Amino acid sequence: MFASSNLVEMPYDSLSAFARALRDAGELVTIDAPVDPYLEIAEITDRVVKAGGPALLFSNVVGSAYPVLTNQFGSARRMAMALGARTLAEVEDRIRSAIDLSIPDSPLGKVGKLLSLSSLRNAIPKTVTSAHSQDVVETEPDLRTLPVLTTWPLDGGPFVTLPLVFTRDPQTKKQNVGMYRVQVYDERSTGMHWQKHKQGRAHAEKWGARIPVAIVIGADPAITYAATAPLPPIVDEMALAGFLRGAPVPLVRCKTIDMLVPASAEFVLEGYVDNTDLRTEGPFGDHTGVYSLADQYPTFHLQCLTRRAAPIYGATVVGKPPMEDAWLGKATERIFLPLLQMVVPEITEYNLPVEGGFHNLVLVAVKKSYPGHAKKVMNALWGIGHMMMLTRTIVVVDHDVDVHDVRSVVWNALNNVDPSRDLVIMPGPVDDLDHSDSFRMSVGHKLGIDATRKTADEGYAREWPPEILMDRATRERVTARWREFGLGDLAATGIPDDYSGQGPRRLARLLASPSKPDA
Ligand SMILES: Cc1cc2nc3c(=O)[nH]c(=O)nc-3n(C[C@H](O)[C@H](O)[C@H](O)COP(=O)(O)O)c2cc1C
Repeated sequence: MFASSNLVEMPYDSLSAFARALRDAGELVTIDAPVDPYLEIAEITDRVVKAGGPALLFSNVVGSAYPVLTNQFGSARRMAMALGARTLAEVEDRIRSAIDLSIPDSPLGKVGKLLSLSSLRNAIPKTVTSAHSQDVVETEPDLRTLPVLTTWPLDGGPFVTLPLVFTRDPQTKKQNVGMYRVQVYDERSTGMHWQKHKQGRAHAEKWGARIPVAIVIGADPAITYAATAPLPPIVDEMALAGFLRGAPVPLVRCKTIDMLVPASAEFVLEGYVDNTDLRTEGPFGDHTGVYSLADQYPTFHLQCLTRRAAPIYGATVVGKPPMEDAWLGKATERIFLPLLQMVVPEITEYNLPVEGGFHNLVLVAVKKSYPGHAKKVMNALWGIGHMMMLTRTIVVVDHDVDVHDVRSVVWNALNNVDPSRDLVIMPGPVDDLDHSDSFRMSVGHKLGIDATRKTADEGYAREWPPEILMDRATRERVTARWREFGLGDLAATGIPDDYSGQGPRRLARLLASPSKPDA
């Protein structure tokens, strides 16, 4: 179904369409046995995610008429499919060619350039007047009819785990969408867990007490991804979604509030957040692998629910990594690398290991060209808006280190780091979920580790020791005679030519194949 070029042939016009595509690709299993949204769906999903299994469509959910889809993004292949590509590397290439500002010098290059520029047209959403998301309009809605999951035993209640929360800036009228979990309190009210540094929260502060909010549950997967992407406020998530899906996002006006939401939505909850109605939200088994503790958050009041005639309820289960959201994070890693390189071009590659929950650890490779360069890169990352500003630990290695081979990063760091010279402790904002500071929330300290090889111009007065490598002639001789040694295939191919203590290039394999994040 995908074009051989980088352009997307066919966007999904709904979550249901994506579910069908997953089923046709052998990437979805339907479970007809009755399952309880209280813990049971989470336990099944957790096992399947960690085993690298398929998306799951639960058709018979106790207490609800609606089917539940989990693990739609849970592999490299499904994440790429969600963005209309075969691999995540292909998505990265698409971004790279769209933002490449150089002028091609060959006729073929010029055609390619025009094609990639024309794909930017898709970034402009279009407004439609009728939509399946409004097949049914419920003016007396009851959230208890939805199959909202309780995912972990100590959770404060059921949570909508994959919600797209739409808000609007009251002054500029610009809309934002972010994914902020929604705890269901009763038939008409929920929590609104927008954290301190998030755009929805910034909008809320401008509105004052009452903020119009629309919460979409289930949409075209490119739109769902875009809600999680760390975009600066000036970039509309619907523009990114349109670019990624290869067609403008159709938006429809809500029935009771002045807000445009994706026409492809399965469910839309229309209402308002009351900033003065603070209630206890949480605890919640979070993507850090620990519970985020209960705290005071404002309340969302539901006024109207619109939905498709036969909607699917989209959910995810977060918890101890690796979980499904690892792949949303890996998509962000790939999509944002070309953008990051526009600002910090000395970055050659980076890896956000899933165990770091995407804000605890970044491993970054740089082409160093002046003393203190690694420290400049750390500061640049902490200084770049939303995406990296909360990063707890940044490890900088030389450009020839494969940052996707974590063992090799550790080996380099342990060999190269002198703590008094190479550690940077930086005070500043940290993620609301960071529990490591004993006293304060959302502010603390971050760690930078310069694990690059030190040079004479950085004041290193000794000779940096060479790495241990066998010479090529000996390796070739041993390979040629391998059969004589009676060791079968064991190590027959030897260490690849480009091996220099940095390990094989895992990234290409990882991103090109449907495998577990830590495979
Ligand atoms: C599954 C999932 C759940 C998330 N839950 C929350 C949440 O409850 N609160 C929050 O502030 N951010 C949450 N995030 C992160 C935000 O969606 C992310 O930071 C996004 O870029 C915010 O958009 P904004 O910059 O427009 O606010 C979640 C992300 C994912 C993938």
